[in-house]
Amino acid sequence: MSSSPKVAVPSRKLDIAWVRQQFPALQQSVNGQPAVFFDAPGGTQVPQRVVDAIANYLSTRNANTGGAFVTSRRTDQVIADARAAMADFFNCATDEVIFGANMTTLTFALSRAIGRELKSGDELLVTCLDHDANVSPWVCLEERGVKVRTADVNPSDCTLDMFDLSAKIRRNTRLVAVGWAANAVGTINDVSEIVHLAHAAGAMAFIDAVHYAPHGPMDVRALDCDFLACSSYKFFGPHLGILYGKREQLQRLRPYKLRACTEQLPDRWETGTQNHEGLAGLIAAIEYIADVGRHHDPSAGTRREAILSAYAVFQQHERELFEQLISGLLAIRGVTFFGIKDPAKFDQRTPTVAIRVEGHSPRELATHLGERGIFAWDGNYYAIDLAERLGVQTSGGMLRIGLAHYNTPEEVERLLTELRALAK
Ligand SMILES: Cc1ncc(COP(=O)(O)O)c(C=O)c1O
Repeated sequence: MSSSPKVAVPSRKLDIAWVRQQFPALQQSVNGQPAVFFDAPGGTQVPQRVVDAIANYLSTRNANTGGAFVTSRRTDQVIADARAAMADFFNCATDEVIFGANMTTLTFALSRAIGRELKSGDELLVTCLDHDANVSPWVCLEERGVKVRTADVNPSDCTLDMFDLSAKIRRNTRLVAVGWAANAVGTINDVSEIVHLAHAAGAMAFIDAVHYAPHGPMDVRALDCDFLACSSYKFFGPHLGILYGKREQLQRLRPYKLRACTEQLPDRWETGTQNHEGLAGLIAAIEYIADVGRHHDPSAGTRREAILSAYAVFQQHERELFEQLISGLLAIRGVTFFGIKDPAKFDQRTPTVAIRVEGHSPRELATHLGERGIFAWDGNYYAIDLAERLGVQTSGGMLRIGLAHYNTPEEVERLLTELRALAK
């Protein structure tokens, strides 16, 4: 998509053996079968270095911040290093990076702060494609007399209805909240265009990048969004949330905070003690991604360049996997496919695919696969409005097959073989 930073065409295919040997969880088996992790949109597995970094923090640096002794100073350094790692990941300044428990908690904190400056008659725009964590925090503001509108999707391929979206951005729209990619069906939205439309109307743009982050590189400066949130447990790290905010917005808004918290950035946004061991793990996760880049592209100089190189190899590998997966699924009788299936639009999707199979509920499918060591989610995955729009909300939702770069063509084939046998 135009909003993504340009990634070089990789000169080397993903070294999948090198990748997989770094992830201890991938070595597990279930009922004698190697475990297959197709649950990435719910949370990815972590490389050993993330496990080690968390353990190492707890054994050698565990303390609160700002103290006059060594473990506290080491903790301050961990937090500073984690912020620098995320600044490279987002392409922003370090004081524009806010840490928190998860994306949902950070988004609620932001919505509360934004709510303080809204007045009756103001409007917010959300979409029908989004996870509820990018809907409810905004809908809660209706108690302040604000109106929340919802942009529709094209149900035939689960792309955003951009005509509807642009028509619903009006003079009194204060914020447009949209996902970069849809966790339920994998659609990548044209966030660049949406930020542009929001700004043209004088509204702020909030991007939920939770599902996009493991699959595509980000450049918040180029995107020009006001806020962007993601969660490191979706990109090979620990359970943490990270919010990017434009400095002027973070300074201007008034977050609810303790008196003990300074007015400096990022302090005024970070309430309470952070998950320090998680931040140590986050640094390791970013370093893992950068090392994928360095391994495949030794010319990558800075950590940012190495991250961009990593995404180029991730994307090439994931594309091969989801082409195999989608063509295999479409050939199975009784499969209903939700989302983009036209190869001409494959650059508008992540490797996250949702289906139903005639005669089997999504829970039955997930249970059947789970017993054979294939982990896939069923349900609505909190994309409630989309499940309703697609008419599957009251019948178990969909089966979601969510690939990550550590998956293999053999694993995809194993899933297809199981589904073919079931569909007979
Ligand atoms: C697209 C999307 N947005 C938001 C969230 C919520 O993230 P968190 O669990 O960090 O609150 C999720 C979690 O699955 C998600 O997939």
